Amino acid sequence: MNIVGLDSLVFGVDDLDASIRCLADYGLTCVERTPSGAVFEALDGTSAVVRHASDGGLAEAFAPSPNIRETIYGVADQATLEQIGAELGKDRPVTLGSDGVLRCKDDSGIPIGFRVTCRRPIDAPPVLINVPGMKPQRPVNQVAADPAMVCTPRSLSHVVFFVPDVAKAERFYTERLGFRVTDRFTNAGPFLRPAGTLEHHCLFLIQAPAHMFGLNHFTFHMADANELMLAGWRFQNKGWKGFWGPGRHIMGSNYFWYFNSPFGGAIEFDADMDLHDDTWVPRAVDANAETSQTFLFDYRPLWSPGGKDH
Ligand SMILES: [Fe+2]
Repeated sequence: MNIVGLDSLVFGVDDLDASIRCLADYGLTCVERTPSGAVFEALDGTSAVVRHASDGGLAEAFAPSPNIRETIYGVADQATLEQIGAELGKDRPVTLGSDGVLRCKDDSGIPIGFRVTCRRPIDAPPVLINVPGMKPQRPVNQVAADPAMVCTPRSLSHVVFFVPDVAKAERFYTERLGFRVTDRFTNAGPFLRPAGTLEHHCLFLIQAPAHMFGLNHFTFHMADANELMLAGWRFQNKGWKGFWGPGRHIMGSNYFWYFNSPFGGAIEFDADMDLHDDTWVPRAVDANAETSQTFLFDYRPLWSPGGKDH
């Protein structure tokens, strides 16, 4: 099934103001703001939607608030939407909303939706780097380090759930929706890639006790490591507390920087994820400090040799 990735994540939160401030500080663009919430977009139109947890328009909560309330996937075309409706309609209620979203629940009970993707071409300057031994990419006299650089997340990357039965959750996405397992943490769960993208994963499932069921974290793609570092730096300086990163994962190779958030899980910046096709042979390893990252840094305030704290 030609599912291209995540289109939108919908959150039900307790602190609406803090949640809206978080998404704005993260760098997304607010495209809708009403008393009941807001919609924030990345450059390609993928989005995060935030509402108060008590909002009657939200999908039914499957976990205590704050948490994610709905995960909406983008599909390539109307035919794919109809294919998904026919498949999932075999054993569960499926509804088509006036917003064009086909809705149901997955086998864990998580509300999911599908729509013809909203993704549009990204209008942003190209990322140009100079690498010894390669033809220069950045024009002569064009500087790369710009403290005023605007860092807008480009695209919704992935979402991660704690689930009480990871095998059952995995089967739903692989057997019913055609996702492929790209890699697996044997003591946690699978990284999953739908057929319409080569990106390592847009979904990662983690086995967890029932009381943890819900959002683990979500992230948008930044352009590259430089942009991730600068965006994360600014985010931390606005008061958001980092708990992991910056670093680089091994599974997926994506650079990462995770922060606590008001959404019931972490918010991450990521960049430069691996691409895989159907010839890729999934790796399977235990998740631990050695397998989770190639390197890891800690944030510290700006500092200069010879400065007053030297
Ligand atoms: Fe992640």
